[in-house]
Amino acid sequence: MLVTILLPLCVFFLFFNFMCRRPKNFPPGPTIVPVLGNILSLRLENPLQDFERLRKAYGNVYSLYLGSRPAIILNGLQAMKEALVTKASDFAGRPQDLYVNDTTDRKGVIMADYGPSWKEHRRFALMTLRNFGLGKQSMEERILGETEFIMNTLEKYIGSTLSPQLMFHNASSNIICQVLFGKRFDYNDEFIKVIVQCFTENSKLANGPWAMLYDSFPMIRCLPLPFMKSFENVKKCQNLTKYVLAEHKRTRVPGEPRDFLDCYLDEMDKRSGDDGCLFSEPQLSMYALDLHFAGTDTTSNTLLTAFLYLMTHPDVQEHCQREIDEVLKGKDQVCFDDRNNMPYVQAVIHEVQRIANTVPLSVFHCTTKNTELMGYSIPKGTMIIPNLTSVLHEEGQWKSPHKFNPENFLNDQGDFVKPEAFMPFSAGPRMCLGEGLARMELFLITVTLLRKFKFIWPEDAGEPDFTPVYGVTLTPKPYRMKIQLRAMH
Ligand code: HEM
Ligand SMILES: *[C@@H]1O[C@H](CO)[C@@H](O)[C@H](O)[C@H]1NC(C)=O
Ligand SMILES: *[C@@H]1O[C@H](CO)[C@@H](O)[C@H](O)[C@H]1NC(C)=O
Ligand SMILES: *[C@@H]1O[C@H](CO)[C@@H](O)[C@H](O)[C@H]1NC(C)=O
Ligand SMILES: *[C@@H]1O[C@H](CO)[C@@H](O)[C@H](O)[C@H]1NC(C)=O
Repeated sequence: MLVTILLPLCVFFLFFNFMCRRPKNFPPGPTIVPVLGNILSLRLENPLQDFERLRKAYGNVYSLYLGSRPAIILNGLQAMKEALVTKASDFAGRPQDLYVNDTTDRKGVIMADYGPSWKEHRRFALMTLRNFGLGKQSMEERILGETEFIMNTLEKYIGSTLSPQLMFHNASSNIICQVLFGKRFDYNDEFIKVIVQCFTENSKLANGPWAMLYDSFPMIRCLPLPFMKSFENVKKCQNLTKYVLAEHKRTRVPGEPRDFLDCYLDEMDKRSGDDGCLFSEPQLSMYALDLHFAGTDTTSNTLLTAFLYLMTHPDVQEHCQREIDEVLKGKDQVCFDDRNNMPYVQAVIHEVQRIANTVPLSVFHCTTKNTELMGYSIPKGTMIIPNLTSVLHEEGQWKSPHKFNPENFLNDQGDFVKPEAFMPFSAGPRMCLGEGLARMELFLITVTLLRKFKFIWPEDAGEPDFTPVYGVTLTPKPYRMKIQLRAMH
């Protein structure tokens, strides 16, 4: 089917014959085919091996043409730091003519270009998430509250096995919902079901060959191809948030925010005089979806990776449990500060994030002006793909770069240390703004579950397969876990 669509298009555009050549002093890469660029050098379903080959041939900073648009791939800590940290503002843009741009309407924060709207919205979110004095509950209490629901699910499966995919997904989705909307949703609630379904479909589409074709060949964008579905999905979600927003506006008390939505509405009131146009309701409804989307799959896939490795490394699991029992002796619940007394658990969680490599190519960046990197000249508006995997697994940066080993985060005295190459949240001004929340979730949920349960790889499950399923976020292959109650210490 692809061929029947692409062939006529190619023939047509060959008439225009815009022969692509790399600009002067541009990072090297494979020869560019007119119109198609380097798209034939990649297997679209899983281009990982192709990328490895290109890196070997062209070095840590190389370029690829997706259709007629160039992209530069960054590998290794040195290039990553120079671009994202040292030359931060030069590299802090987002490509604006991609599939994702069109699905998000350029509102919200994730895909917003480097500029006042992005800056103000980002600052607002960081502040709101940090001072979570919203309502009566602290962020910790919200997370621990949601963890109770995970425990309830697990308790039903004591002595038997369970697939944890939906459980973790539902939990991380619900934690963000509490932040955004001030309430958790019943797992069977229509609202959350529709949103989760739309997201799942859209991330499949965004990962797939159709999105890449959409980005590479603007002329196919108005054709009724599968990517059209994602525009409908976004509309559906926005329709739902509109409803929640209306309810909030009806019931809110200005100055007494219950959640993120209320805070935003307060902020809109405050700004209504001056730059009122930056903060608006359409912005808010996309922003809410952005945060929900950014915070759900990432956190749940990291948790899934955590339990996959904890089950298959029982010695690591037991070591964590010894430390947890000791530090929490006599206490009802864990709190986030306890992490400072749990170097081993901290090391394990960080090592899980390193191995999980949840967002392998980060979110694509874009240069905001003509700039230089590692001696190459890069024009404004060039797409930049930070290969976070290459840093998380870089030889020379880790004691064991290729193997799961919590020692990567422990010094000789057994203290927790964080190497510079730990960047699962990326780095620089675009770095994940949910890092604080994500780290709190990972710690509180993992510790609470390990304290109460023992997780065992089922005898009949065969050999574990650690190879993740490729996508914008990497997902462990579905697995089941066997659950036993631990004796409380
Ligand atoms: C383990 C969990 C998570 C991981 C591994 C992760 C990773 C990332 C990465 C790699 C980026 C791209 C940074 C860049 O462009 O250089 C990002 C951006 C972002 N993340 Fe996360 N994230 C996680 C959880 C969360 C959570 C819980 C939230 C929600 C509160 C969140 C909200 C965002 C937002 C809004 C952005 C866009 C920031 C911007 O463009 O300025 N993330 N995240
Ligand atoms: C990213 O780095 C990893 C590890 O070096 C490599 O296997 C992968 O092919 C790289 N991806 C790209 C897009 O260069
Ligand atoms: C990005 O999306 C917006 C809104 O859908 C659209 O108006 C704009 O033309 C898009 N940008 C590009 C460069 O295609
Ligand atoms: C997760 O939520 C879905 C609905 O979105 C529900 O059908 C499912 O039972 C929930 N699963 C768990 C384990 O909580
Ligand atoms: C939007 O929501 C309303 C009420 O919930 C519904 O009647 C309408 O069909 C929805 N529209 C779309 C495009 O989903």
